[in-house]
Amino acid sequence: MAIQLADFPEVTKAPPRAKTYKGVQVLRHDPCGVEILNIDLAQPMADGTFRAVMDIWHQGLVICFRNQDLTAEDQLRFGRRVGELSVIHTPEFTGEDPSIMYISNVKKNGEFVHALPIGEMMFHIDQCYQPRPAKATILYAMKIPKTGGNTLFCDLQRAYDTLDEETKARIAGRRVMHVYDYDAGATHTAAAVADDAPRYVHPLVRTHPVTERKCLYVNRLMTREVVGMDKAESDALLARLFDHMENPEFVYEHRWRLGDLLMWDNRCTAHARRDFDPEQERVMRRLTVLGEAPA
Ligand code: OGA
Ligand code: MN
Repeated sequence: MAIQLADFPEVTKAPPRAKTYKGVQVLRHDPCGVEILNIDLAQPMADGTFRAVMDIWHQGLVICFRNQDLTAEDQLRFGRRVGELSVIHTPEFTGEDPSIMYISNVKKNGEFVHALPIGEMMFHIDQCYQPRPAKATILYAMKIPKTGGNTLFCDLQRAYDTLDEETKARIAGRRVMHVYDYDAGATHTAAAVADDAPRYVHPLVRTHPVTERKCLYVNRLMTREVVGMDKAESDALLARLFDHMENPEFVYEHRWRLGDLLMWDNRCTAHARRDFDPEQERVMRRLTVLGEAPA
């Protein structure tokens, strides 16, 4: 079982395809991931361009605006246009605004000053243990290490589409329990989860509210059980689904550059961060946009 990502092969694919969509220049990666080349998020964006960006996002699942130079206010303005921002539930990590959080390994007097959850090193879906998990997570790269710290994105629609028909029939209508307890999840599925760990039940197969595509809605870090299924059967089914989705064929590996503003569709992708040299600093400014109840 892949506890962390150290064994996950580096994902290298054919070079991205250059296209222009309604005036927006993009580079499309496979199976997901789109670089957007000619938009400066510090400038006002016309409604038509914003709609084009949303279309590109819904098709490409992960979009990255390269070469940005953004204040917190610039990032908030873009985030608010995507939807209602979530307020961070760990106030000690918030930034200039209650919806800004910094993900970094920066230390002061030997202590981390921001959040850098070790659970990020396994595939997960942000906030899936909440009633309305984020639809979007928006990260802005302010400092990146020379090597390491790439983020992997798994296309959960592709993962669903490629299941055999028997498995699709078996999981149809099923629900799963997600639990936020990184210690139990990141070490071992057999470890008992804390009684007070936040949890929520959602459909195992989710339909995207905009594109109506189905996706697998599980992840190795937080999905603990298929509701109403015998424990051994549930463990075996989930293990098979995790192994299936964590296939390099369904994964885009993002190699960060300074000034990247990246937004993933958290309704139909799972993500995981690779390890990096702790002596080098990595700082991301993060927002999440409140999503719909999964259905
Ligand atoms: C997150 C997350 C990964 C990264 O912000 O939710 O998982 O690469 N980040 O920083
Ligand atoms: Mn995450």
